[in-house]
Amino acid sequence: MSDKREQFSSKFGFLLAAVGSAVGLGNFWGFPTQAASNGGGAFVLAYLLLAFLLAYPALMAELVIGRHARANVVTALEGVGKTALSRQLGKAVGIYGVLTASLILSFYTIVSGWMVAHFGQSLAQAVHWHSAAHWLIHESLLRNLLVAFIFMGLTIWIVARGVQAGIEAWSTRLMPLLVAILLCLIAYVLLQPGAMEGLRTYLVPDFRQLSDPALLLSAMGQAFFSLSLGVGTMLIYGSYLSKQESLPRLGAAVTLLDTGIAFTAGLLIIPAMYVAQHHGVTIYAEDGSLVAGPRLIFQVLPSLFDSMGAAGIALSLAFFALMSIAALTSSISMLEAPVSVMIERTRLQRPGAAAAIGTTIFAMSALIIFNMNALFGVIVSLTTEYSQPLLGIALCVYVGWVMHRNQVLKELQAGHRGVEHSLFWKVWPFYVRIICPLLILLAFGQSLRG
Ligand code: PHE
Repeated sequence: MSDKREQFSSKFGFLLAAVGSAVGLGNFWGFPTQAASNGGGAFVLAYLLLAFLLAYPALMAELVIGRHARANVVTALEGVGKTALSRQLGKAVGIYGVLTASLILSFYTIVSGWMVAHFGQSLAQAVHWHSAAHWLIHESLLRNLLVAFIFMGLTIWIVARGVQAGIEAWSTRLMPLLVAILLCLIAYVLLQPGAMEGLRTYLVPDFRQLSDPALLLSAMGQAFFSLSLGVGTMLIYGSYLSKQESLPRLGAAVTLLDTGIAFTAGLLIIPAMYVAQHHGVTIYAEDGSLVAGPRLIFQVLPSLFDSMGAAGIALSLAFFALMSIAALTSSISMLEAPVSVMIERTRLQRPGAAAAIGTTIFAMSALIIFNMNALFGVIVSLTTEYSQPLLGIALCVYVGWVMHRNQVLKELQAGHRGVEHSLFWKVWPFYVRIICPLLILLAFGQSLRG
């Protein structure tokens, strides 16, 4: 198995794939509104600190285990164990991780399908096919199933093509496109009346709001989700990285780019909301907070686009292309987690495994679509609020307590000469052993109480 194992062709391939995984719907609708309603620039600062002090060390834990084991999350955690018990536990944690990745993908597919639907609506509008445009953005079971199916089909197709020809090739094509669309949209929106007020709300810091511990904890949850932590996606991407590359540097680059794009997304979303307000759209919810989540993306912004005539159609096309791309480069990383387990632990080949697992996850999405009220919220909170932090703790514990310090150092030295004398090596081992698990536990306790 190992001599034929696929690998990213270069560190840029890895970087774009990992950033593609990290940059997703979380960056575009979670981060900006949280920041605007919770202290603006002060929240942005706190988020950056948390991302580097907490999420980055946890990301490093995943990358180290992945590249050390050169295997999927189940085999990797099983292999790191020294005793029968820790091997079995490792295997169980790995399975829990890929199940979580699959469940996240099942609801992510539904929401991403809506992005595809809105993209299709703008296309239909552009060619004056009004009945199709109308059908695509109006809630119906059939519409939800169809667009989720299309999105899952694309995800399966890319993953089935493999690490280099699928994941890497498409991340390298789509991520630069994403950044280009994002920058063009920002340039346009910032020139519209109302935008500057939005910019002020987003950036002017209000440090008083940071004294609320619940806020910091939710910023931490956001950082974990945004960096795709805990579910074995970063681990498997790390396992495809050559031993010649420096893990601490690449991990830092991924964190920096992910947080940078989240920050930049805010420069688009918040000013766009205030431009919408200028056009008469309501942007505050009943309780006085800024509208967030699905209402923001599928009502506030579309009403803005509607009010802008032809330019609105072009903007809407670009915006929903942006969201669909962000979603797709994340969904392929989610599917890769279970697919890699299947192909490395059974005789199934990659295309068959991608199709079988993708179809099963789509069936789960369909189940959620038929029982939206009962299932959607429960699965989101079960996976992102409970499973991801728990898995994050487990992965830190495996690197900090189960792997030998020498093993960890050796892995870090590959591709990073002299790492043993660096600040990273002075701080990080203690961090993953003690600080990360404790802080995640704290956040977890808080979310249980909430
Ligand atoms: N990081 C992605 C986002 O921000 C979500 C994700 C979570 C991707 C877990 C992979 C694994 O949307």
